[in-house]
Amino acid sequence: MKSKSVIKSDLTPSKIIEHLNRYIVGQDKAKRAVAIALRNRIRRRALPPELSHEIMPKNILMVGPTGVGKTEIARRLATLSNAPFVKVEATKFTEVGYVGRDVETIIRDLMEFSVSMVRRKMIAEVQGPAQERAKQRLLDALLPRREKKFSMPEFMKAFTDKSSDDNNDEAALNADEENEKYTRTRMRFQKMLEEGKLDDKDVEIEINDSATSIPVFGSPGMDVMGINITEMLGGIMPKKTKTQHLKVNEAMRILQQEEADKLIDTDAMAKQALEMAQEDGIVFLDEIDKVVVKGGSSHGPDVSREGVQRDLLPIVEGSVVQTRYGPVKTDHILFIAAGAFSGVKPSDLIPELQGRFPIRVELEPLSVEHLQQILTEPENSLIRQYEALISTEGTELSFTKEATAEIARLAHKMNSEMEDIGARRLHTMMEQLLEEISFSVSDMNEEKIEITPEIVKEKLNGLVENRDIRRYLL
Ligand SMILES: Nc1ncnc2c1ncn2[C@@H]1O[C@H](COP(=O)(O)OP(=O)(O)OP(=O)(O)O)[C@@H](O)[C@H]1O
Ligand SMILES: [Mg+2]
Repeated sequence: MKSKSVIKSDLTPSKIIEHLNRYIVGQDKAKRAVAIALRNRIRRRALPPELSHEIMPKNILMVGPTGVGKTEIARRLATLSNAPFVKVEATKFTEVGYVGRDVETIIRDLMEFSVSMVRRKMIAEVQGPAQERAKQRLLDALLPRREKKFSMPEFMKAFTDKSSDDNNDEAALNADEENEKYTRTRMRFQKMLEEGKLDDKDVEIEINDSATSIPVFGSPGMDVMGINITEMLGGIMPKKTKTQHLKVNEAMRILQQEEADKLIDTDAMAKQALEMAQEDGIVFLDEIDKVVVKGGSSHGPDVSREGVQRDLLPIVEGSVVQTRYGPVKTDHILFIAAGAFSGVKPSDLIPELQGRFPIRVELEPLSVEHLQQILTEPENSLIRQYEALISTEGTELSFTKEATAEIARLAHKMNSEMEDIGARRLHTMMEQLLEEISFSVSDMNEEKIEITPEIVKEKLNGLVENRDIRRYLL
């Protein structure tokens, strides 16, 4: 008998690659590496804790020239993985005045992301009861009970001096009747509310006033401790409410949100988010080569770059970072680093850090064919974007196959003769190519514009050939 997999997720490596293929052309090795890494995390989660604890993530280092899809792969992986994900530029930690800036903020950001993911899920789960509560609050607002007649409980009446309240006698007589009438009206209103018949009616409701909370700027020191002053004070100060006039449907939306907020268990939320950040979290360290020093040892101004690597080391190796939701262990967080490594090599990284990125993948420079595919194939390809934009003017823009080949050829030529900026070259080329159409299409009554290789040559050849102009325009 074939043993059955215990993994619930259907995110297999081939599925992951299929998804990445919708947006990224080529770079198969990098796609495979991230697909395996992602699947390994899912596999690990299916193991008993004693074993899963031992299995450390295999961090990935993506190396490749600029503009060939490194960041794009990470971005697409994030939306796909349904895991807490942050992307940081390593250079951020070398900015003037921020030398040695707390790299632990990376983990805190990851945790915030995780909390917002869990929160969103929990909020979705309590929508049913939240809606019911909101409905009752809205009915209270639409049908206020007249206090005097209803507030006095029945048993109290025997003890009350009749003359002290001239209304009371009548009220007592009518109370039952009034009550019944009220209930009937309320039910009728509830039905109308549910059918959306009251949507456009005005209503006055009391809602939480978030605007009254005073913004307090925490000092960086407090941030390090993971303490949020605004939140601390928020807990001490009484919650303010304000009265607002709204349409019923808008009021319903706001009340439902408020009720949902009240219904979620914040402790459970933090606990779940903490676990997700620790077990599933992915950190993408972009521009890692920018904190590498040639030859590996540093003097003078380079010290800060190596400092960043030293700072990164503990979180990549596994340490505990304090956050305002509790301590986060970084041992099982997956790190994917990327860099162009044009002047420096991965072996120029400090040795301890090198060892922490055992999987190296190289991304290839883009060929003419790649560039043409990038123009046309991805779901969000540049050609599709321009076609969509121009279509809003009632004009159908299209490109012949030969035209896209010509654009790719010229882009490749520019990349090899000047600086190789990868697929980014396509952006400037397309902008130059379509500049005139983008300007005049609104005033034209063209039904169709077809871009042919002749048009491409006419618009771009001159620029590509002119060494003085192309430096600025392409
Ligand atoms: N292989 C590819 N397939 C589809 N689009 C791509 C590819 N490579 C690059 N692009 C597009 O080119 C642009 C730049 O790519 P990206 O940001 O991934 O570059 P990068 O490799 O991270 O470069 P850098 O080293 O400069 O950060 C993006 O708009 C991206 O969509
Ligand atoms: Mg990048």
